Amino acid sequence: MAAKISLPIMDEKRPKRCRCRRRVLSRFLTLALLAITIYVMYYMRIVSSYAVLFVPETSDLPSSQIALDKPVTSAQSLVPFEAHIMSKCPDARDCLKDMVLPAMMRVYDKVNFTLSFIGTPTENDGVDCKHGPGECMGNIIELCAHHLYPDPKIYLGFTMCLTKDYKSIPQRELVEDCALEHAIDFEKLNDCAAQDDGAFGIAMLRESVRRSTNAGVTKSCTVRLNDEIYCIRDDGEWSACPSGPSVNDLIIAVEKLYRSS
Ligand SMILES: *[C@@H]1O[C@H](CO)[C@@H](O)[C@H](O)[C@H]1NC(C)=O
Repeated sequence: MAAKISLPIMDEKRPKRCRCRRRVLSRFLTLALLAITIYVMYYMRIVSSYAVLFVPETSDLPSSQIALDKPVTSAQSLVPFEAHIMSKCPDARDCLKDMVLPAMMRVYDKVNFTLSFIGTPTENDGVDCKHGPGECMGNIIELCAHHLYPDPKIYLGFTMCLTKDYKSIPQRELVEDCALEHAIDFEKLNDCAAQDDGAFGIAMLRESVRRSTNAGVTKSCTVRLNDEIYCIRDDGEWSACPSGPSVNDLIIAVEKLYRSS
């Protein structure tokens, strides 16, 4: 009996509950849709405001394509750009100050920059440096800066700082001051120069010196572009610069090579 009575009640209630659930469900869906719409609009606004930072004004590529374009651009091959120096050489100072650094500020993203050193490898696995053992030490400190901080903006700035006061290389005070100025950890630099009783630094210097010898470079400072001598600074003067020593001409040459690569 009870079952008989309760059945119609259940039957009456069921559709009610269902309608109720449907209403709740549709309200929930509406809210969810609204939330998603708001989120998407918000998200797209953020994407488009970021995209402005990367895309030239004329471009109206969707953001998905921008992401694809970036690696393609950076995969373009970089132009080899190299300066061969000795750390205690006034020509290296002039060359870095007047040509290499100002050029690098404008084309650092188009070149593969290498700083190499000039010296003579010795029989006993050492290196002779023109301005004495202090210069070899200076070269090693600069190579260590490169080893620890591969970004040319850091190690080249540091090298420029030392070379401005090249007579004091490798005095600790100068190295500390320049390290501080370029956010280089002096202790790390010192550890690098002293690693394996100095053998690590000497091996880097021998490798660098061999690179200069193989390129036929003997004078500090020699600037090479695309593996060819571009300009030489020697005895306070520019020589062997068929395109002239101006930074602008060097930049034009880099951009031309970069575009044709
Ligand atoms: C940059 O040049 C060095 C020395 O020639 C080479 O070992 C390195 O692979 C080059 N890197 C790029 C990214 O071209």
